[in-house]
Amino acid sequence: RKVVKFCMENKKILELRQEMTLKEKIGQLTQITGEHYVGKIDNEMVETGPGYSQQLLEGDTLYTIGSIIGVSSAKITNLIQSEYLKKSRLKIPLLFMHDAIHGYKTIFPIPLGLSCTWDENILRDVAAYTASELRASGIHVNFSPMVDLVRDSRWGRVMESFGEDHLLSGNLGGAMINGYQKDAEGKISQDGVAACLKHFAAYGAGIGGKDYNTVDMSMREFFDYYGKPYEIALKEKPKFVMSSFNTFNGIPVTASKEMMKDILRDKYQFDDIVISDWGAVSELQNHRVAQDGREAAELALTAGIDIEMVSTLYLENYQQILEKNPALLHEIDAAVLKILQLKNELGMFENPYVDEDLEETVILNQKSLQFAKEAAKKSCVLLKNDSLLPISKEYKKILVVGPFANTQELLGNWQCKGRFDDVVALSEGMRLVDESLELSAYETLEDCPKDELEKCDYIVAAIGEHWELSGEGHSSVNIELDKQQQQLIKDIKKTDKPYACVCFSGRPLALQDIIDDIPALLWCWYPGTQAGIAIAELLTGKDTPSGKLTMSFPRYSSQVPIYYNEYSSGRPANESSYSSRYQDCEVGPLFSFGHGLTYTNTEYSNFKISGHKITEGQDIKISFQVKNPSEYEYSEIAILYIEDLVSKAVRPIREMKKYQVVTVPANQTVTVELVITLDDLHYLNGSLQQSVEPGEFKIYINDLEHSVFTIEH
Ligand code: BGC
Repeated sequence: RKVVKFCMENKKILELRQEMTLKEKIGQLTQITGEHYVGKIDNEMVETGPGYSQQLLEGDTLYTIGSIIGVSSAKITNLIQSEYLKKSRLKIPLLFMHDAIHGYKTIFPIPLGLSCTWDENILRDVAAYTASELRASGIHVNFSPMVDLVRDSRWGRVMESFGEDHLLSGNLGGAMINGYQKDAEGKISQDGVAACLKHFAAYGAGIGGKDYNTVDMSMREFFDYYGKPYEIALKEKPKFVMSSFNTFNGIPVTASKEMMKDILRDKYQFDDIVISDWGAVSELQNHRVAQDGREAAELALTAGIDIEMVSTLYLENYQQILEKNPALLHEIDAAVLKILQLKNELGMFENPYVDEDLEETVILNQKSLQFAKEAAKKSCVLLKNDSLLPISKEYKKILVVGPFANTQELLGNWQCKGRFDDVVALSEGMRLVDESLELSAYETLEDCPKDELEKCDYIVAAIGEHWELSGEGHSSVNIELDKQQQQLIKDIKKTDKPYACVCFSGRPLALQDIIDDIPALLWCWYPGTQAGIAIAELLTGKDTPSGKLTMSFPRYSSQVPIYYNEYSSGRPANESSYSSRYQDCEVGPLFSFGHGLTYTNTEYSNFKISGHKITEGQDIKISFQVKNPSEYEYSEIAILYIEDLVSKAVRPIREMKKYQVVTVPANQTVTVELVITLDDLHYLNGSLQQSVEPGEFKIYINDLEHSVFTIEH
């Protein structure tokens, strides 16, 4: 991978900053949409929020702006750049930023699906392919990854998350940052983009699962859980962090010095660029913590928001703000320097344009499509299987039925520039993967001619939740499978044919009412461009599913929030009345975090522990063998949990501490070794101090209790 050389010494950058007027500096801290320079942009603009007045952008002000959101393609970005540079006094090129959340034109599974691979290598590569496509289209910064911890699948944005565990979310986010930036020698490479970690912080904890809603939690909960994924991912040095829309302890994060300075900068040591979310500076007025635009801008600037996204209150009010608070100039200068340094690191002063021939070779190329198929396969989770999958070879006449049988709309929300025309539908994938099948596919059973239904050997029900029902601004009170599709499953059952269900969705759905009628269930999330082929390879047994859930499935809509690492209760959940449970629902999720079946009949054995005591400098190693007696080579996900038997402050019933994704060749056994150190056992005690306490811990590997160890001081 080629490294971009600095084209200017830092000294030159400082000189450039010296030459800038105050207005030119504030322009660098402002991000707007692209049509101002080239007029209306058909089929190119992606808007992800309401419009804001950008009234002061006349005359030379427009040519001080630092970055553009929402347009892509080499042609358009080059055009905007050249129009801009013609009139910009200091010829500081524009940065282009975009949301390629799970791919740009080659679309990979939604992040929640990707997280079910548990595989950092896969997430890194997804990000790397995405970065190459973005950079070839003139984009420099990607607003990804999102590591907001989630426990409530009513929130539409769980699809963009990595699920309910903080360690896994942090690690997968870190892997994506690496993949986007493709850092070599600490610099973004020529086909990499700057990553933007978002949304800082705790945006996934909005009360009631409503988007943009208030967050209120203890600092202990924040530092041990909701803050952790950012803390971990920040170690991979994303160039940007985006602040979140929500309030935290009564203050909108966009105006919170505590969040943005004390925690993000001082505690988590982030020293690069902070950008607001879309319109969030202006929205401080809606939160009613600012009485006008000037106050909103001042609050955000003071909190340390470097770039204002889409609204233009910094530009409209900077003179008054600085008159009142001249010390802010120092922070403005620091922010401008970071932005100029990034532009320099990307080589933009040397060449602000992108080669327009590149897109053709980079976008949707065979390698990325092949990888999209692999990623899609590994993100599927086999939730249930009464020996009905894979589809037996003796069944040749297959009927695929349901709203997802023929549709190409399998990209999921945040599909960026992905086109449905490029997507392989489920029925098409089945035809491509096994030409010997006599396959027919209909949206409903009524559409299927009677004799065809009678003659068919096996039915695949293709069900789910439409992609537009999850994503930003798409929270729901009802997360159950719709009644029509429940009826479809009951009707299929009545045919007495063998059948299985394939389900698409952007969130865990609540399936208690229908699960007994589903003998086999493959959860595919939204798999992206190669959806149909990937799923067909799993259904026909060319490959085995191997994903495991990263988010618990509730039984009913009202059983959320639900997550595996709940704290121990004084009255632990069980069937008795006076226990921590709902009276009208079984205890626990329908499918829990970590659940996922394969076709392999894998066996775990030979557990060993290197010692039973952990001290400073003395770790313990836990090893075991994983035997794969099948013909499939696949990725086994081994998960280690601990249970802290007694502690001063309450601990979760179980905590995932380690996991490993191991390739197990067909008919072979591999040994897995996981190490637990004292550091792994730290937690914030009741006085908000990091502590490890002497005592006993149980270890579980997946669902099996395995051994006990103690911490000694
Ligand atoms: C979303 C962000 C996104 C931004 C820019 C906002 O509405 O919350 O996740 O990056 O828009 O499109």
